[in-house]
Amino acid sequence: MKTFYIETFGCQMNAHDSEKVVGTLLQKGYTQVQQPGDAELVLYNTCSIRDKAEQKVFNRLQQFKRDAGKGKIFGVIGCVAQQEGDRIFERAPHVSLVAGSASYTRLPEMLVQLEAGNRRVTGLSLDVNETFDTPFTRRDNPHRAYITIIEGCDKACAYCVVPFTRGPERSRTGESVMREARSLAELGYTEIQLLGQNVNSYRDPSPAGWDFARLIANTGTIAGIRRVRFTTSHPRDFVKEIIDAIDENPVLCNHVHLPVQSGSSSVLARMQRQYSRDQYMRRIEWMKNAKREIAITTDIIVGFPGETEADFRETVRLAEEVEYDSMFIFKYSKRPNTPALQYQDQVPEEEKTARLMHLQERQRAIQMRRNGRYVGHCEEVHVEGFNMATGQWIGRTAQNKTLNFHDPELPAPREAATRVGRYLNVLVTRAGPNSLAGERHTA
Ligand code: 5AD
Ligand code: SF4
Repeated sequence: MKTFYIETFGCQMNAHDSEKVVGTLLQKGYTQVQQPGDAELVLYNTCSIRDKAEQKVFNRLQQFKRDAGKGKIFGVIGCVAQQEGDRIFERAPHVSLVAGSASYTRLPEMLVQLEAGNRRVTGLSLDVNETFDTPFTRRDNPHRAYITIIEGCDKACAYCVVPFTRGPERSRTGESVMREARSLAELGYTEIQLLGQNVNSYRDPSPAGWDFARLIANTGTIAGIRRVRFTTSHPRDFVKEIIDAIDENPVLCNHVHLPVQSGSSSVLARMQRQYSRDQYMRRIEWMKNAKREIAITTDIIVGFPGETEADFRETVRLAEEVEYDSMFIFKYSKRPNTPALQYQDQVPEEEKTARLMHLQERQRAIQMRRNGRYVGHCEEVHVEGFNMATGQWIGRTAQNKTLNFHDPELPAPREAATRVGRYLNVLVTRAGPNSLAGERHTA
């Protein structure tokens, strides 16, 4: 029996890719183990969005270097693999397999080569016809499932490696997305999350030609599916019809993650984001004027080359105006191959840190204020688990907020298995900046 271990870094796309890789390996007769020490094949599914993420995998590889001689095979897959290619063999000579996400269809074939004793096997083609649509996905969560709808990215944001690591955009047909969603519903999944680097530029390649708004509207009609989420949106391709679809069908979750990156139009232009601050704010207005209350979250990069103090203040001002429900803030990190690598006037590291901390603090106050408005309201949660330390159930609202709650009737964790995946009503009694807390509401 061949054994493998896999560790995943990075975004939900990567998490889902790993589910596909695991499914493929299990189908080929491999057994998954939970410790790298117990595995014959050790895989790292990597992220290269920032330098820190990339370093993680090289640190891991160093850790287990000595085991390489003992018949253990190491593979690096995902974004660092695609970005670094053959150079990985130089940096970590004990690695035998290097494969980017567009080459996973060839994984069984690559495994055969490894088993035959081949020392170096690569899969680095970004052939657009090789989308990874496998029947062997092994999903981690029995209630919420990821579905890839579009791979790759055709944007050229000046800081971003994704167009290089995941290749050009290619959409799956609407019918194949619907087929996957229906079969998930039949398996008992109630929540689906549609994935893509830029879901808004989804375009059904079949004659039906659905756009993204149409796709979400259609997935929202599948019997048994109670929640549809999607990520990530690009503001440039975000159209009002998406909000209209959310307004019309409560199955479509009232949460949009709309990365702004900066509140300064001149920084946005240098980032090659293809929208101005005003254009972004128009999209925010659509959401604020929607019939349902839509939670809005975002990503921000501080310290992009040339970002002045005044530019940064524009970002803080935008955050105050939008009042995001949550925000991921990153310090700009230089990435290989990207246009911004050539930009002069880098912002000093201490300044980046100071800006990040300042924005974090302001955002914390905004979240505290926003979350406070839920106190006294009843929210439906999808139950995700039980926290032994606090004795509370963990739930998630349609707006993607964590809502921890007590259930006086059911305090015992031995019931967890029967509760996880259910939908319950919870009365919100307390609010913190990052989560809500409450009591099960049974009336
Ligand atoms: N440096 C810092 N943050 C980055 N992101 C993407 N590229 C970089 C980079 N070079 C951030 C963006 C994106 C999120 C996934 O990661 O905010 O939306
Ligand atoms: Fe990381 Fe981007 Fe690759 Fe996701 S697509 S794993 S965030 S580099």
